Amino acid sequence: MIWFGGDYNPEQWDESVWDDDIRLMAEAHVSMVTVGVFSWSMLEPSEGNFTFEWLDRILDKLHAAGIRVDLATATASPPPWLTHNYPEVLPMTEQGVRLQAGSRQQYCPSSPVFRRLATRLASEIAQRYAGHPALEMWHINNEYGCHLSHCYCDVSAVAFRQWLAIKYATVDHLNEAWGTAFWSQRYGSFEEIHTPSAAPYFKNPGQVLDFDRFSSDELLECFRSEAQAVRAISPGVPLTTNFMGFFKPVDYWKWAAEIDVISDDSYPDPADPDSPMIAAMSRDLMRSLGSGKPWILMEQAASAVNWRDVNAAKPEGMMRAWSYQAIARGADGVLFFQWRQSVRGGERFHSAMLPHTGTDTASWRSITQLGRELVDMPASGDRISPASTAIMFDWDTWWSIEQPGLPATLSYLELVRGWYRPLYEAGVAVDFVNPASDLAAYKVVIVPSLFAAAASSIETLAAFGESGGTLLVTFQTAITDESGQLTPGGYLGSLATTLGVRIDEFFPQPHRHEVQMNGPLGRGVGTVWAERLISHDAEVMAHFTGGPLQGCPAVTRKSWGAGASWYVATEPDDRSRKAIIEQVLSDGKVEESGVVAPAGVEVAVRGGRRFIINHTDREQSFEVHTGHGADAPQKHSLGAYGVTVLAEQGALVL
Ligand code: GAL
Repeated sequence: MIWFGGDYNPEQWDESVWDDDIRLMAEAHVSMVTVGVFSWSMLEPSEGNFTFEWLDRILDKLHAAGIRVDLATATASPPPWLTHNYPEVLPMTEQGVRLQAGSRQQYCPSSPVFRRLATRLASEIAQRYAGHPALEMWHINNEYGCHLSHCYCDVSAVAFRQWLAIKYATVDHLNEAWGTAFWSQRYGSFEEIHTPSAAPYFKNPGQVLDFDRFSSDELLECFRSEAQAVRAISPGVPLTTNFMGFFKPVDYWKWAAEIDVISDDSYPDPADPDSPMIAAMSRDLMRSLGSGKPWILMEQAASAVNWRDVNAAKPEGMMRAWSYQAIARGADGVLFFQWRQSVRGGERFHSAMLPHTGTDTASWRSITQLGRELVDMPASGDRISPASTAIMFDWDTWWSIEQPGLPATLSYLELVRGWYRPLYEAGVAVDFVNPASDLAAYKVVIVPSLFAAAASSIETLAAFGESGGTLLVTFQTAITDESGQLTPGGYLGSLATTLGVRIDEFFPQPHRHEVQMNGPLGRGVGTVWAERLISHDAEVMAHFTGGPLQGCPAVTRKSWGAGASWYVATEPDDRSRKAIIEQVLSDGKVEESGVVAPAGVEVAVRGGRRFIINHTDREQSFEVHTGHGADAPQKHSLGAYGVTVLAEQGALVL
């Protein structure tokens, strides 16, 4: 069985509604609900006074109906009394504005008062419900950092100084790492350092990067404080906190090791044709964060959200297709925000499993149909074995490459998506790895712009490329070290030898500018970036034609016996990128999925099962190649937003 359900906020409703909720949950085959995420003010209406009786009643009812509970620690939205009594808990923006209560997440992550009161509430809840028979899992806080990830207040400044003192030990080391001889920024003591609030011009890159790391770590400390308290009282019950896909402020690699069940909230835009690819990439990250452990899709929308300019509804079938996509890419649970659509508050127009318009609706029918299907769908429970292909993803790089004052304004996520796309379209399974990952399991590793690279990361990549792995590295890799400093004498470090190239000068391309390419890969076009690249002993697979870079290599390949190391100095157009990826997969001897499907039809492999998902609004057909010599491929078709699952031998099981 795959978990099925959603956020349940019974405190928004009169208790007379609760029995109806439970009856309809049973009708929809709901197996788990997340309770209490935003109920701090209802559980602790004034400081130190706890009112659990209402929560007792609803948990008992859920248990009687056989519905399991992912119980929240309720700390995501501090109640008004808290910031009224302790105004210093209110966070401050980069511009020095104090954010007020009246929305949610209005707390400074470094506030000792917030941490103390949040941890006390988590402990009280754990004490009361550790033995409750409905309890399946603990849900710590909610979407850490979603609205408030960086706080610039004085309390944060104190914590930042402590964090820096632990990292650097002496202020001289800090001065060295941040390069404070520049612009007269030398610090005489840690006391002189502040959070990098709004400033007249470029801030110190090392300070900003450390503040990003600190901010992610402070949220992690908030998590740890609650998690430790809950674990001490309720050992053995798994614990989660919900991630948000590729979320820049929080380094999920660092967090993942401390979380029993990885879970994710996912709200792709139904109006964006790229959404299936974007969602697939997040789902692959979630599986990778847990090293292949099944994860839970903790929140998605039944239909529209309410926080875009225009909130497109999901056409019939899309919600089901995206749910199966999550399962195909490692999820063992599909949950929604939220169970019953609110009639009050800021999210009245966000869709829910049970819409305003009731049960005689297309949306309710889709929910109940999916709930029914997931009862019979086996959860794997097991770790999913690594893919053959990996993409490197690194938060230090994300924080560094998007700072101001660089050769060009680049979007790290766009660069990574650029390389994920052709793999997604070809149905090639992809894991994400980080610079400290063991790469031994992979045949192909793609490194899109690992801008900030420690010497050890460069060595890992060089060793992978030189010992039989197939490596693809793109421009703006190994440009700085981990503190943002460049090494005099050139870019790429020892990767220059692995790749067989040297960079002479960057030629970033203005918006919409195109550079022409030609060579063994055929004619193509590059955008965004180019460079004057010199090949030492790499084969030139494409060179720039025309303009100041006429004749310079654009794409190179250096053979290392069993594998090859590729370098790409531009953002290639779709055709060129596809040609590069085909060659790289062939260098790495990556096996194909055996399914040939048109654009818009996704192929994802989980264990022995292949999921085929039609993301288009038309019928589509696809072919399954059995791999038995001259056997003719089997032809199948799928209706609009249809999903099918093939067992190993090619039989349809859904
Ligand atoms: C999430 C959040 C939910 C709800 C949802 C709306 O960020 O965890 O509580 O607000 O978004 O899309």
